[in-house]
Amino acid sequence: MIQAMDKRPYNSIRMRRLRRGDLLRDLVAQTTLSPANLVMPLFVRRGENIRRPIVSMPGQYQLSPDQALEDLAEMAGGGLRAYILFAVVDDRDKDETGSHAHDPDNAVCTTLRLARAAGINMLAITDLCFCEYTSHGHCGVLADPSGHPQSIRRQARSKSGQAGKLRATPAAPFPGVDNDSTLEHLARQAVLHARAGADIIAPSGMMDHATAAVRRALDAAGYHDRAILSYAVKYASGFYGPFREAAESPPRFGDRCDYQMDFRRGAAEAVREAMLDVQEGADIVMVKPGLPYLDVLRCVVDAVPVPCAAYQVSGEYAMFKAAANAGWLDEKSCVLEAMHAFRRAGASFIITYYATQIARWLRDL
Ligand code: PBG
Repeated sequence: MIQAMDKRPYNSIRMRRLRRGDLLRDLVAQTTLSPANLVMPLFVRRGENIRRPIVSMPGQYQLSPDQALEDLAEMAGGGLRAYILFAVVDDRDKDETGSHAHDPDNAVCTTLRLARAAGINMLAITDLCFCEYTSHGHCGVLADPSGHPQSIRRQARSKSGQAGKLRATPAAPFPGVDNDSTLEHLARQAVLHARAGADIIAPSGMMDHATAAVRRALDAAGYHDRAILSYAVKYASGFYGPFREAAESPPRFGDRCDYQMDFRRGAAEAVREAMLDVQEGADIVMVKPGLPYLDVLRCVVDAVPVPCAAYQVSGEYAMFKAAANAGWLDEKSCVLEAMHAFRRAGASFIITYYATQIARWLRDL
């Protein structure tokens, strides 16, 4: 009676109705996560029996190929289906052009061959870049290899020695990485990875037209069947810090701002980068870093007709670990929440240092 007399509009909507109990919540969940959606990164270096902890990435190690093989066997048993390899190169093997990247006995190629020989049933992805291999730590061949180190030294001297004074000559600008000669090196390295058994090649250096160069080289060598996962949208990010410790690959001077993207730009630039790589033959594109770039991820997913991956990078991993180890965050629930955020934003899969751990958590759920 009282209701009938109430003249206010009647609103029957109860948002909580679908949250009533696990069964109902599971029924209407729109985002799924399985170990098949995860890729585990591994850092490999030459040698035997090496398992060197990476300080800023607790739980992660530099591994020699034999140790990597042990981990891969365990991961496959845990339900993981893909891994991505990064090289850690001894200083004595580094040079200006990163020639060790072309050595078929380097750690990446050795690990690929071992995994194949052992019948590891996982997709092998290789990071394709030069920063791990070059003595200067940049992602390719320098435009002016002789000029730059001097100009940096000049810069340093004028900063400390002539403080307050006007500089007579401004320091030469960073000559940068030479795009097109780097492409030739990338193409060669890609074919080497394919020959050693890589299923997916992932160019990560942000050189223009790297995807086209790699596709052309793979096809010319008969590897039409190997896919390209392009790091199409990769920002110049502080979140790569721990990776650079892990891979011993920080730039020795300058930074990567003249090839990696500027985070102050908008999503349109990201979409353009991704579209270009699709036109050049990328089978999958990627957005990197992860959580701070979910807006970009969503735009790219909506714009491109190929699967899109997300990379939860080293700094993101380090933040979760630090907070968890301090007892400030519940690691499992926060990491799983982040993974679902990537999936909700449209990522087909996520590269994450948590992959092994997540596979375990999902098994125990
Ligand atoms: C190589 C490369 C980097 C990362 C992936 N591939 C380093 C960089 O660009 O400086 C970073 C990954 C991470 O931080 O987890 N170019």
